[in-house]
Amino acid sequence: MAKILVIDDDTSIAESLDLYLTEEGHQVFTALTGTDGLNAYVKNNPDLVILDIRLPDIDGFTVLEDLREEDENVKVIMITAFHDMDSTIKAMKSGAFDYIHKPINIEELDMAISKALKSLEMERKISALLNEPSRSFKVGDIVGNSKEMQEIFKTIGVVSQSRTTVLIEGESGTGKELIAKVIHSNTSPDEPYIAVNCSAIVETLLESELFGHEKGSFTGAITRKLGKFELARYGTVFLDEISEMSLNLQAKLLRVLQEMEFERVGGKDRIRVNARIIAATNKDLKTLVKEGKFRDDLYYRLNIVSIRIPPLRERREDIPLLVDYLLAKINRDLHKRVIGVSDEMMEIFMKYRWPGNVRELENLLIRAVVVAKGQVLTRSDFPELSEEAPKTEKEKDVVDDLGEPGRLYTLDEIEERYIRKVLKENPHKNKGELCEILGISRPTFERKLEKYGIEIGGHNT
Ligand SMILES: Nc1ncnc2c1ncn2[C@@H]1O[C@H](COP(=O)(O)OP(=O)(O)OP(=O)(O)O)[C@@H](O)[C@H]1O
Ligand SMILES: [Mg+2]
Repeated sequence: MAKILVIDDDTSIAESLDLYLTEEGHQVFTALTGTDGLNAYVKNNPDLVILDIRLPDIDGFTVLEDLREEDENVKVIMITAFHDMDSTIKAMKSGAFDYIHKPINIEELDMAISKALKSLEMERKISALLNEPSRSFKVGDIVGNSKEMQEIFKTIGVVSQSRTTVLIEGESGTGKELIAKVIHSNTSPDEPYIAVNCSAIVETLLESELFGHEKGSFTGAITRKLGKFELARYGTVFLDEISEMSLNLQAKLLRVLQEMEFERVGGKDRIRVNARIIAATNKDLKTLVKEGKFRDDLYYRLNIVSIRIPPLRERREDIPLLVDYLLAKINRDLHKRVIGVSDEMMEIFMKYRWPGNVRELENLLIRAVVVAKGQVLTRSDFPELSEEAPKTEKEKDVVDDLGEPGRLYTLDEIEERYIRKVLKENPHKNKGELCEILGISRPTFERKLEKYGIEIGGHNT
């Protein structure tokens, strides 16, 4: 239901519009002159105005001008005479939303009204998003209405009241760092938040990055340097991609976590750790523990509280909300006014696999907003999005053999699966031939068989 103001001096038109629109469920006000119309507008603040051009006192264009002075975005549908092309053009140029011809055709009227109301609704939606108090849009806000995300919000609330170590697990782009930052800003907002990517730095450097070093402790250590644990003070150290840490350094980190004290590299002083530690991984640490690549004692130390963020494809109900949220953010950053995605596009989003999770969604939307012509993003704004993951039969084959299409695998898992596949499909080939297929040497082949515990039976000798 909308509030509609009809300004027309022809009483029969005003009355029949009143009747019709009321029947359609709208609240209708009528005015027979321009002055009355303007007064009625100010008094009733309607959503939509239907305005005749020819009025006894002020002409419709002036009324339109005055209305737009009241509200720049006012939705006005002008009633123009059928053959009067000039005034139709003039109406549109002066900011009318649409026009209908006299004599009024109901279909034309309905269409113009529903277009105007839809546009109004979208404008209101976007301005609500844009003007929402900054709190709900500050960096670090997480949205999600899925059960899983609601649980995560609760956990964040609980851990923010303590300083326990937290392990965040989730595929790439699911929001691990975002959650780490939110926990930090809920726990110790005025202290430093320091992120360390454990995969980006070579082992020796990582050690001094974390714990610092004394002057002269190794070649290149020309001054004393404080490590992240010290620099973070009472804040947070975020250890990203913890699975990539060498076993050697894992042992050192374990000691630090047990004693909450450490020494700088090459130093003697015991330094207390006050910072809260949050670790993140996109690999399954439990599996790595089983494979001997991650220390189980460190795993248990880190895993005091764990937050497992499900991939986006397992909580698709979050997608519409994320689209709204991300578009509002992107609009602000890029000074754009994109309102949403088309129904067709949303349907595709709801089915897509999202291997890159929320980050992939965000990147797609950014690119689309940059190139989009309209206010609503449509299929053609997303040229790089491929709808079905496995398209050709061949691709499908590989995906089926190498695991479920929905899941992401480590390279090791894929390697193991692939070796098993080759063995299964070539039961009569000998090891030399198998090495050739796989493109590896005999010793490498043997090592991999052992690594994955693959038994060669039957004819493969
Ligand atoms: N629930 C969410 N609500 C709002 N934004 C989100 C949400 N989840 C992720 N994002 C956004 O998606 C992007 C990726 O998130 P983030 O960097 O935290 O992922 P990640 O899990 O650390 O990824 P990676 O493993 O690749 O480092 C960020 O821009 C983040 O703000
Ligand atoms: Mg990250």
